[in-house]
Amino acid sequence: MEASLAAVAEAGIDIRLPLFERFFAAFPDRRSSFISIDAASRRMTDETLQMMFGLAEGAGWVWPLIAELVFTHRSYGALPIAEYDAFIDMTVAELGRATGAAWDEATAAAWICSAEALKAMIRKARAEWADAMPAGAPQLAE
Ligand code: HEM
Repeated sequence: MEASLAAVAEAGIDIRLPLFERFFAAFPDRRSSFISIDAASRRMTDETLQMMFGLAEGAGWVWPLIAELVFTHRSYGALPIAEYDAFIDMTVAELGRATGAAWDEATAAAWICSAEALKAMIRKARAEWADAMPAGAPQLAE
């Protein structure tokens, strides 16, 4: 996983803008939720990659960060879980595209494993907020 990040960095490829264009192509109505795509795309892309990398390392900071992410995103409206899933899958797909020849089966499998873990933790965080704090919990659009 680290090698693929290094390959993309060394090639000087910034995946965030193609990633966001891909996401908006799938969910055109979501574009207007963003005040600054430039600012948000840096942090959303970065943190999604960091969370997946952290999960692969078994890092303890990932869970609190996911719990916070889900809670702060309540300000952006009722975000369907399918959009979280798609954003995560598209992040892995764009990383794979940018990695090019160095993207092999083992690398893809490692990222996909973390992607699935991240999706599961987002579901868990949404459910726990709804349970612990029904009035202020993130709206569940599902
Ligand atoms: C694991 C996935 C995600 C991570 C790690 C993440 C992370 C972040 C972070 C850190 C910000 C703050 C950006 C800033 O103010 O500089 C942000 C903003 C935002 N995120 Fe996400 N996000 C994720 C998924 C999503 C999804 C799936 C959606 C929409 C369906 C979404 C919608 C937004 C919106 C609308 C903003 C506000 C941007 C603005 O005001 O311009 N995020 N996200």
